[in-house]
Amino acid sequence: MNHDQDLVLEATGLDKTFLARKGLRRPGTRAVHAVCNVSLKLWRGETLALVGESGSGKSTTARLLTLLERPDAGSVRVLGEEWTKLRPRGLRARRRHLQMVFQDPFASLDPMKMVVFTIGEPLMIHEGLKGADLDRRVLALLDLVGLPASALHRYPHEFSGGQRQRIAIARALAADPAVVVADEAVSALDVSTQAQVLNLMKDIQAERGLAFVFITHDLGVVRQVADRVSVLYHGEVVEEGAADAVLERPRMAYTQRLLSAVPEVSARDREERRAVLARLHSEAAS
Ligand SMILES: Nc1ncnc2c1ncn2[C@@H]1O[C@H](COP(=O)(O)OP(=O)(O)OP(=O)(O)O)[C@@H](O)[C@H]1O
Ligand SMILES: [Mg+2]
Repeated sequence: MNHDQDLVLEATGLDKTFLARKGLRRPGTRAVHAVCNVSLKLWRGETLALVGESGSGKSTTARLLTLLERPDAGSVRVLGEEWTKLRPRGLRARRRHLQMVFQDPFASLDPMKMVVFTIGEPLMIHEGLKGADLDRRVLALLDLVGLPASALHRYPHEFSGGQRQRIAIARALAADPAVVVADEAVSALDVSTQAQVLNLMKDIQAERGLAFVFITHDLGVVRQVADRVSVLYHGEVVEEGAADAVLERPRMAYTQRLLSAVPEVSARDREERRAVLARLHSEAAS
């Protein structure tokens, strides 16, 4: 394990500074050093969790790793190749190796596009597939993520949140990537759907040797999926290591605080818990 030929992603000294957000830019506003000298390594088949409080630079790091945003300094190597110096065309040609899944599957799916074209787009672009060949490959991907064949000719609004996230995952997988960067990919889902989608991702990972960068503020999710953890604080990696070690014996007071913080309970979870409680009460009463 951990041989260099299995090193799929290596970021070194990433740096990014923003002026204040557009529209909020006033004279004298300070720049935000969102990501500061971040380095990380990812090996084939493993999951690295990126954790940290809100605003610590997790999403910015994800956007730098995937080159959706150019770093001010530092390098990103994917499958041994330097990506930061690539021109847009070169980057587009290689994007399939490194895919991203976002929190909100609704925003990341084109509402006007049928599932077959949403999932099949990478296959059309990179392999020139169309017609029955395209359908066949997309059907296999639908099967892989546990969606019925009937999904092929439907639109995103016809699916639940969990199903839409499965579509987004199938689309990411269509490109046959070496790395998937998932930014709060299951955070919007209720607890049981979350568990299903996480299990699905783990199964696919085992099958294909995929590597994940998993961004989450939910330490329950970290426990379920992570091999290693990097902790971000004000844009810097302040602690990293094997997931068990970081979770059980955090070195930094900040990490301890993160770990002890009461997890956010989404409105949906609350509803679900209320429903379960109501059912238990009525069962007890009868
Ligand atoms: N496009 C941008 N323009 C200006 N500032 C930005 C931009 N993107 C991020 N920032 C700032 O950079 C810092 C890091 O933001 P980032 O979104 O990476 O944090 P995060 O860890 O993903 O937070 P969250 O958990 O809330 O998603 C924040 O202070 C944020 O306001
Ligand atoms: Mg974020």
